[in-house]
Parts: sequence; C-alpha cells; structure tokens
Amino acid sequence: MNKLNYGCKDLVVVISGGTSGIGLATAAKLAGDGARVYILGRSLARGEAAVRQLAEKTGQQVVFVPCDITSAGSCKEAVIKISEYEKSLLQKQQARIDILINSAGIYAEQRLENMTEQDYGTVMDTNVKGTLLLTQACLPLMYEGGSIVNIASDAGVNGNYGCPVYCASKGAVVALTRALALDLAPAIRVNCICPADVDTPLLARQLVDANGGYTLADMAAAYPLGRIGRAEEIAHAICGVAAPANSFMTGSIITVDGGITAG
Ligand SMILES: NC(=O)c1ccc[n+]([C@@H]2O[C@H](COP(=O)([O-])OP(=O)(O)OC[C@H]3O[C@@H](n4cnc5c(N)ncnc54)[C@H](OP(=O)(O)O)[C@@H]3O)[C@@H](O)[C@H]2O)c1
Repeated sequence: MNKLNYGCKDLVVVISGGTSGIGLATAAKLAGDGARVYILGRSLARGEAAVRQLAEKTGQQVVFVPCDITSAGSCKEAVIKISEYEKSLLQKQQARIDILINSAGIYAEQRLENMTEQDYGTVMDTNVKGTLLLTQACLPLMYEGGSIVNIASDAGVNGNYGCPVYCASKGAVVALTRALALDLAPAIRVNCICPADVDTPLLARQLVDANGGYTLADMAAAYPLGRIGRAEEIAHAICGVAAPANSFMTGSIITVDGGITAG
C-alpha cells in the first residue's frame, strides 16, 4: 500500500505504549508522516528495539522515553525530558506537544470469582489512572489544535466474557474521553478508538492465559470479517482521528472491530 499522508509533518507526538503492538504501529505511521515521535514504556530493552525497528522502517529517529504511567512522578519526568529535548532541538524557550496517544494498557483474563484486590489495582492503575496521569502531565504543553486519542476496547463498549475488571477499566476510558472532550474544548480534541482483538503481543499473552479455553481460530470465527485485526489497521484509524484535518471530531468513541459490535 502507498504511504498515507496524515498531515502531521513536524508535529510533536507522544505515544504511551509506543514500544509494542498498536502503539508501535502508530509510531511507524506518524514517524513516516514526518512527525517528531516520542515513544513511552517501562522496558528499556523494548524501547531500544522499537527505536531501531522504527529507524529501519521509516528512516526517522524516534525517541524512547522511559515512563511508568502508573506513577505521577514518572509521567512528569518523561514530559520534562521531552520538553528539554524539543527545546534543545528547536533552540526555543518553550516546547509543545501536538498529539498524545494513550495506547499503554494491559489485559487481564480473569473471572470476578478469582480476582484479588491487587489484581484490580494493577489493571485499573495502568488502564485508567495511567491514562489520567500521563494526560495531566502532557496538558501544560498542549495548546490550540492539540489532539488526544485514547485507546479503549470493544470491551469498554459491550460486555466481554471472562474479563470484568478489564471491561470496567476500558469503560472508564470511554467515559473519561467524553468528560475530557467537554473540559478541554475548544482547544484540544479528545477521542477514543475501541479496537476488538488485534494481533499483538498482548493478544499472544491473552491466548496463553486462556490456556486452551479458546484459540485464535475461535476468535476469528466470531468476526463478520472472518479474522482479527492487524496493529497497522488500528494505527491507521488512530492517525486519521488524531490528524489536524479531522478538526470537527471530539468526544467520539470509534469502534474498529471487524464488525463484531455491529450486531
Ligand atoms: N491487542 C488487542 O487485542 C487489543 C484489543 C482492544 C484494545 N487493546 C488496547 O490497545 C492498547 C495497546 O495494546 P497492544 O495490544 O498494543 O498491547 P502490547 O503489545 O502489550 O503493548 C502494550 C504497551 O504498553 C506499555 N505499557 C504497559 N504498561 C505500562 C505502564 N505501566 N507504563 C508505561 N507503559 C506501559 C508496554 O511497554 P512496557 O511493558 O515496556 O511498559 C507496551 O509498549 C491497550 O490499551 C489495550 O488494552 C488491545
């Protein structure tokens, strides 16, 4: 497929979870578009590997910034690093962030009967608190025309089997999107992409946790399109929603799910 143009050249993009899966695929598209992309995650090894992979694929130098989004201090430190980097690059007093993609998240295959308080905390801290904390840290650098895209899930819109805490966490991201769209308008648009099953390391771990209870083929059979999604397909929707030309969309919750929530 020809390279798509999202109109993000020279924009500053921060992607949590940009070192893997959907976040990494989004980083590739926006770096290829000429944006200055910062990818955030906890693992240095994963971060360095992603930077190498993105350089090979796009010819662009993407910057990895270590960050644990469950910690307010870590989010603030990451934004300070991005700000310092930008200021030195542009020889300016002030830095800006144009686009924030909140893609970092974890899945938990666990029925409520087996959930501990700690399990609840781990999922909610990452998927909900982490999204809030990183957004809060980035906001002082986001101005008129800024765009935030949160990644929730079809599980945040419809119920799913065997993952009530994950569903609750993604439902919270959907509600948070709508709330922030109101509070941050008209300067900053806030939207939410809800993918269904996508072929990423998260899904590979999910299948291991399911322990044979269902297979990839079972998953694929549930979709009107007959298959699960690819990370670049979700990334394309994220980039289209984030793009400056998409200037009248805010507070929208967009499913990208092979039709699974259409029925
Ligand atoms: N794949 C699917 O089927 C699917 C379906 C619906 C929704 N989603 C959602 O899409 C988003 C991306 O999922 P994915 O499939 O791309 O997952 P993935 O391949 O497992 O990538 C997750 C990313 O999040 C980062 N991360 C996790 N916890 C973090 C933390 N505390 N602080 C900073 N970074 C953290 C990981 O890096 P480190 O581990 O190094 O920190 C990694 O870069 C998630 O929000 C997920 O819930 C995925």
